[in-house]
Amino acid sequence: MFSSRIKNFLSDLKVLYCMAARPIRGETDAERLEAFYVHQADSYDRFRKKLLTGRDDLMRSVEPHEGEVWVDMGCGTGANIEFLGDNIRCLKKLYLLDMTESMLKVARKRVEKLHWDNVEVQCVDATAWRPEGEQVDVILFSYSLTMIPDWFAAIDRAYEALKPGGRIGVVDFYIARKFPGKKRMRQSFSTRWFWPIWFSLDNLYLSSDILPYLTRKFEEVSLLERADRMPYCPIFWKKMPRFVFVGKKK
Ligand SMILES: C[S@@+](CC[C@H](N)C(=O)[O-])C[C@H]1O[C@@H](n2cnc3c(N)ncnc32)[C@H](O)[C@@H]1O
Repeated sequence: MFSSRIKNFLSDLKVLYCMAARPIRGETDAERLEAFYVHQADSYDRFRKKLLTGRDDLMRSVEPHEGEVWVDMGCGTGANIEFLGDNIRCLKKLYLLDMTESMLKVARKRVEKLHWDNVEVQCVDATAWRPEGEQVDVILFSYSLTMIPDWFAAIDRAYEALKPGGRIGVVDFYIARKFPGKKRMRQSFSTRWFWPIWFSLDNLYLSSDILPYLTRKFEEVSLLERADRMPYCPIFWKKMPRFVFVGKKK
């Protein structure tokens, strides 16, 4: 018990170091992602449980139906898919796609261990990916869009891959436009200024255009906007804004 606590504490420290201090080197996006994740992929799931909230909300909002083809784009370690429980088995196919091999290694182990024989893990770039032959019913982006510099291209590729009526589900950090419109959450000047700088240290691209671009391209099925305290840092006063969006291809 005591030794597992120390082990967890040391593994959290390692992740914190990778996120806050370790230089992220590389010539390409793929190299930089690998450099960022290679020393934290094994500890990723435990640490991100508190940080990347709303992933269960997303999985609950996008219900699986018998025979569907799903894609989790930027799947990381594939942990989100566990929220589906036994419903995974009703899908015809589920693709776990990501550009970082060290994360995919953990995803492959998970798929093997849980005997998901309708799940396939592939290394792809979301901005260039096209499905082979089949059209897709559901595409998920869980905290992956903001890690893609050309997130416009990633959303466009997802739109093309979905069949008419197909659904997109996104959960991510974001900032709002200064005047986001009726029914949308307004954010203070300091929020809109602070978080893009904070996240840019880890090469995350928070843009006030992501949510408007999603709602322009897809018919809105549901949208949740909220702000939560930062875990591991209870005295920090600024809340992290995030959204959970489900849309339908028109
Ligand atoms: C913060 S992690 C989220 C992982 C997982 N979806 C989750 O919710 O825990 C972001 C993931 O996006 C992946 N990613 C970033 N850019 C990508 C791209 N262009 N194509 C595919 N995956 C990408 C990263 O490798 C990383 O695994």
